Amino acid sequence: MKQTIGSILKAKNNRKLTMITAYDALFARMFDGEVDFILVGDSLNMSFAGKKDTISATLKQMIYHTNAVCNGAKNTFIICDMPFGTYTNEDKALKNAIKVFRETSADAIKIEGGKEKANIVKILTKNSIAVVGHIGLLPQNFRSEGGYKVKGKDEENIASLIEDAKAIEDAGAFCIVLEGVKEEAGKAIAHSVKVPIIGIGAGANVDGQVLVWSDMLGFFDEFKPKFVREYLNGAILVKSAITQYKEDVENGTFPNKNEIY
Ligand code: KIV
Repeated sequence: MKQTIGSILKAKNNRKLTMITAYDALFARMFDGEVDFILVGDSLNMSFAGKKDTISATLKQMIYHTNAVCNGAKNTFIICDMPFGTYTNEDKALKNAIKVFRETSADAIKIEGGKEKANIVKILTKNSIAVVGHIGLLPQNFRSEGGYKVKGKDEENIASLIEDAKAIEDAGAFCIVLEGVKEEAGKAIAHSVKVPIIGIGAGANVDGQVLVWSDMLGFFDEFKPKFVREYLNGAILVKSAITQYKEDVENGTFPNKNEIY
């Protein structure tokens, strides 16, 4: 059954939530009904579009891919990532989030940032846009921070992340993605708020996990973050299928008599 904000909130302290990313209808259909939510992440700019980071993803692309995912996964709660630069102030954020809601059937949007983005979370939620927060390591800060930097390494930073989580919870976010933090930080943050904390590289003591589909299925082989568990050797399987196909074409065994009109 498709999750609702109410059922997602109720899951906290009762069961772990599972989120996966998807960018297209084909994979979304396979994930549909198997996970609690699907995130159309701006990570598509890397694994789908082959870019170095998420920063050049556009709203138009996110809407295109969100529609594709919505077409494939009719029974799953779908979240659209707001790309870099589309929520820099309240008016812009509201205008762009309304565009996402009008042009797709996404159930929620996700924005990166903590206390400094609480006003944005508030204006969106006050206008009936469900918001998932994203704190800790923020991929959209890749260039400004000079790479992906793990957070929550000391008491002061953990306290600041707790403030972030509380600020966006108070502003109305119903769920928070927590990325790239030390395990003790994940635990402290999950304990400090009532909304579910969905970790990615945040250890086991949070309320659920999210993985990027192309990482966990082994299709993205440019680099493998430490926290990723590969459940399939996707790239190896595809490459060997392609080798076999070429061989069959070259030796004349494809097509056979059952594969012709
Ligand atoms: O874009 C994305 O895939 C994400 C996940 C890393 C949570 O934001």
